[in-house]
Amino acid sequence: MMLIVGAGAVGTILAAYATRAAKMPLRLYVRNIDLDAVQGVEQICVDHVLGGRPALRVAKPTLTQALDLSDVRYLVICVKYPDLASVLDALPAIPPHCTVIPTLNGVGALRRLHERFPGASVAPMTIMFNGQWLAPLHARITTKPQVLVGSRDATLLGAFEGSGMAVEAIEGEAAIWGKLLINLGHAICAASHATFKDLITHPDLKACYFRVFDEAAEILGRANISVVLPIPMPVRVYQLLLRRGGPLAWWLARSRSGLQAGSYPSMVADVTQGRPTEVMQLNGEIVTLAERLGRDAPINRRLCELINAMAGARPKPLTPGELRQRLGVDLDA
Ligand SMILES: NC(=O)c1ccc[n+]([C@@H]2O[C@H](COP(=O)([O-])OP(=O)(O)OC[C@H]3O[C@@H](n4cnc5c(N)ncnc54)[C@H](OP(=O)(O)O)[C@@H]3O)[C@@H](O)[C@H]2O)c1
Repeated sequence: MMLIVGAGAVGTILAAYATRAAKMPLRLYVRNIDLDAVQGVEQICVDHVLGGRPALRVAKPTLTQALDLSDVRYLVICVKYPDLASVLDALPAIPPHCTVIPTLNGVGALRRLHERFPGASVAPMTIMFNGQWLAPLHARITTKPQVLVGSRDATLLGAFEGSGMAVEAIEGEAAIWGKLLINLGHAICAASHATFKDLITHPDLKACYFRVFDEAAEILGRANISVVLPIPMPVRVYQLLLRRGGPLAWWLARSRSGLQAGSYPSMVADVTQGRPTEVMQLNGEIVTLAERLGRDAPINRRLCELINAMAGARPKPLTPGELRQRLGVDLDA
């Protein structure tokens, strides 16, 4: 039995693909406040933006409001970081037959899980797709459907087999740090309401991104943290590509993940809709790590301050030039 907690973008998409794969029974946990909306829907629907693929429509899985883990082999947590505490508080002790699978960005959720449930089996899932919630049990996926899973459990790795969701096994935390490094640009997009494409092609935003990236890569190096990027190249080569590679970095992102020109990271919607963001679980991790080393990560720190000041305020986005100045980044650095 797989239990998915959180019926937002990621939860809806994973539930749809797991239902299509039909490898094991599935339950979807929704809170009281979301139940009426979800109960009124007959099917899960995932729209695909990429390549005109047809929408994936499958039967709605069994809904539950109980976090009973007695028959649960895989507990997949699909909430955002600000809601993680409420989920962990509501969970019973994790039984030995159950593996917890956090899908949250960054390494903070993993740390929190290990602190809260020491000894529990945990297999982090790195979401490589870009998903957007459209309506109850209706999401859109704007990239190729793919995830990385930190486990060798063949049943877990095969849970989406035949569904179209690509699953790759990873070892250790290096790939999670690699994804975090790439995702540091989400806050730049959120501050300026920019797309992924803008981030790596607009001169001001690109300058901000590679300074944020360089600063973080240096801190990770000093902390002796191994990093494997979700693209097949070493960090140094990617840095060079960002800096000197012209449109190549965008071409690579497109061909690897299928990113579309109009796709935004979800932090853009969080900021524009006045919701809490995960900036502290991304750029904030770098700032904390730097502090632990007795150093500073000023550009990531300023970015955190900027996004935190925007939270709840539904602010006007900064222009790319304004953002670059606020971060103290030179165009020709
Ligand atoms: N979306 C992506 O493309 C993407 C990509 C990579 C990684 N991720 C990561 O995946 C995680 C989930 O992201 P998402 O985009 O799916 O977020 P989301 O669309 O906001 O979905 C989160 C869902 O969790 C529900 N929820 C909140 N607290 C809950 C609780 N206590 N019990 C049960 N459900 C609860 C929310 O309900 P309400 O709406 O009612 O609050 C919402 O439906 C995040 O950490 C994100 O960083 C997402």
